[in-house]
Amino acid sequence: MPLSIISGTHWGDEGKGKIVDYLSQKADMVIRAQGGSNAGHTVVVDKVKYVFHLIPSGILHPGKICILGDGMVIDPAGLLEEIQLLQNHGREEALQRLFISEKANLVMPYHKIFDRLQETFRQDSRIGTTGRGIGPAYEDKVARWGIRAVDLLNQETLSDKLSIVLNYKNAILEKVFLQPPLPRDTILNEYFNYAKKLSPYITNTSIMIQEAMLAHQKVIIEGAQGTMLDLDHGTYPFVTSSHPVAAGSLLGAGLGPVNTIESIGICKAYTSRVGEGPFPTECLDETENYLREKGGEYGATTGRPRRCGWLDGVVLKYAVQINTLTALVVTKLDVLGGLPHIKICTQYQIGEKITSSFPINPAEWKSCQPIYQTMDGWESDISGIHHYLDLPGATRDYIEFIEDYTGIPVALISVGPDRNATIVRKELF
Ligand code: GDP
Ligand code: IMO
Ligand code: MG
Repeated sequence: MPLSIISGTHWGDEGKGKIVDYLSQKADMVIRAQGGSNAGHTVVVDKVKYVFHLIPSGILHPGKICILGDGMVIDPAGLLEEIQLLQNHGREEALQRLFISEKANLVMPYHKIFDRLQETFRQDSRIGTTGRGIGPAYEDKVARWGIRAVDLLNQETLSDKLSIVLNYKNAILEKVFLQPPLPRDTILNEYFNYAKKLSPYITNTSIMIQEAMLAHQKVIIEGAQGTMLDLDHGTYPFVTSSHPVAAGSLLGAGLGPVNTIESIGICKAYTSRVGEGPFPTECLDETENYLREKGGEYGATTGRPRRCGWLDGVVLKYAVQINTLTALVVTKLDVLGGLPHIKICTQYQIGEKITSSFPINPAEWKSCQPIYQTMDGWESDISGIHHYLDLPGATRDYIEFIEDYTGIPVALISVGPDRNATIVRKELF
């Protein structure tokens, strides 16, 4: 199918970067549509590890067009660092294929300050944000204070917009938070400098995407974060401020409900979460340690240890529904090797009630107990296996249980961080 949307099925860090890189081999264009540098997408090629926060994970493939789409919030300093990273790896060629939507919003210095201040004011109810200014940048977009990438193309517009916004921001900083005001000229000069460096990349990406679709090119939209971090559909308020679900990908790329979409859910073989908020299958015992250490579950953006637990099937089924998933990719299956038993949560018990739905009511989160299906584990290391039938029987049982339970096929299985550590069961595209 011409358009594939990649979405995380849980709370992010499912291995989207690895899979987008893998699928990009066959794509013509890869688009990031939502979020910003809160994302950390890891790609490992020939033992070299890249972590992308803003740049699409398809960038390492020569010839593929990579777009930072309309729905993103872009931190110019962070983007320049990533561009530098590509240059350091001798990948200047990639910069000819990189484009930024005129409509994307910019992360400004005050967004990071407000991110920190808001977290402090939330006290024990803090969200545990990445501190990248994402929430405040989206707040400004919605409140129509946003400065967009296109504004970098005209010094006068940038200067006028910043003056007005900064008056407002400084009033809040000084009068509400008793903080010193931010100096307009310093910020303006900093952003003039970014403008000089980033202007060549800023363009009307909507037209590029429309043309690619009309020419039946293969387009991938790389989701960031995960279904349960979605502003509307996730564990509100412990969510991010964008729309990681598949519908958000369309909106943030500037596409409508096109006819043929492959909606691919990236599901880690177990579940993790970084930051605060409900996580019913979190294992607060040695299993968590095992998964964290073997799976290297430390944030790719902040380095924070990720909370780990068994695969939450209730959330997975919800992700199938909310993203209209047509296929799954199960990642990090190798990490489960060596455990005597493997569990998958199929329902929750909340008081007397047994349910297959994630509770929307925060009052029910504390008493939400997972009900598990327990399956046999496997001893052997599966990370070198390339064919499905070569996997141990218990490993295949686990995959087939996921398929039966969700009703959709597991198309790919990832058994290691490297591009090549991928087992194909059903060709995508
Ligand atoms: P993303 O945010 O969804 O792109 O995921 P992250 O990159 O934040 O986290 C996934 C981590 O798991 C990274 O360190 C990847 O290199 C690694 N990874 C991805 N797939 C596999 C896999 O199949 N097996 C193992 N062992 N590691 C993997
Ligand atoms: P990728 O794309 C995991 C979490 C933060 C916090 C909440 C809100 O790598 O899967 P924010 O800074 O967005 O306001 O933080 O969302 N979060 C992520 N967790 N992976 C991510 O991205 C995340 N992006 C944000 O930890 O709980
Ligand atoms: Mg990540």
